[in-house]
Amino acid sequence: MLKSYALRRALTDGKYRKIFVERLTEPLHLNILSAGVALFGSYPAKVAFDLVVRQQYAYPILFAAQAAKKLGLQRIAVLEFGVATGAGLLNMCELAARTEAATGVLIDVVGFDTGSGMPPAVDHRDLPEYFQEGDYPMDFEALRRALPARCRLILGDVAETIPGYLASVRPDAPIGFVSVDVDYYSSTVRTLPVLDGAAEQYLPIVPVYLDDVGMDGCNPWNGELLAVAEFNAGHPLRKIAPFNLLRSKRIFKNAQWIDRMYAAHIHDHPARTPATAKRAQQAYIRNEYLG
Ligand SMILES: C[S@@+](CC[C@H](N)C(=O)[O-])C[C@H]1O[C@@H](n2cnc3c(N)ncnc32)[C@H](O)[C@@H]1O
Repeated sequence: MLKSYALRRALTDGKYRKIFVERLTEPLHLNILSAGVALFGSYPAKVAFDLVVRQQYAYPILFAAQAAKKLGLQRIAVLEFGVATGAGLLNMCELAARTEAATGVLIDVVGFDTGSGMPPAVDHRDLPEYFQEGDYPMDFEALRRALPARCRLILGDVAETIPGYLASVRPDAPIGFVSVDVDYYSSTVRTLPVLDGAAEQYLPIVPVYLDDVGMDGCNPWNGELLAVAEFNAGHPLRKIAPFNLLRSKRIFKNAQWIDRMYAAHIHDHPARTPATAKRAQQAYIRNEYLG
């Protein structure tokens, strides 16, 4: 009785669900291999094996840093929208430091929040059955003291703070990753203009993590997914879509974060524009049937 209660508690708690439902349902040989990677693996190997806490930040930050390196960039910015008490933001700072050490690309972290919790919900599209005004307050002083030098916390409604931030983003330190965790449809609508800047203010592909697309009550007509659909409809050259083939590229396929990972495609980025995207060498397909 006690045992089944403990198991039930464990399975309902997010952390244990990750272990029982996501991880232990993966092939045994991969879980055994993980132990070796956990002990002796490099940081990218640990990210590949989902051994880093908050894989939904670890993977896209590493992806962005590696992409930046290929483009010859030395610095990027990674953003968290919706900070609350700052667990995610502090985790992002730690992952930024580890990614920096692994890739040599410098990473600035910027968090955005009202500082006073959720604003009022506008209508049913904000999923009021899950979120309400005043949820997730912040202890600003405690968080400020804990933030490392690489991190900036910008307080206020995102509709008011994004324009000023965007004006400060330089092409030599473009935005490389955006986490959207502002819960409401209306707040996501106000967040996505962070992707409205000049093309050079972004990497050509910016991973976008949508935290709140997985509840039973979510669908394409409410919450973050509706905000993304409206963004796509209004932006011919900027499209947010599920991250291509991510599940098949991952070693562990059951992790939920995979389904929350999207990418913003900056189609007007110089690296994706015919006149400026030219490679020095032409592509060639070798044909082994020609002898
Ligand atoms: C679920 S919490 C974020 C949790 C955090 N990402 C973490 O991992 O610990 C959602 C946050 O979004 C913030 N938020 C919602 N709408 C906002 C808006 N329009 N402008 C700024 N912040 C907003 C709220 O203040 C709240 O703290």
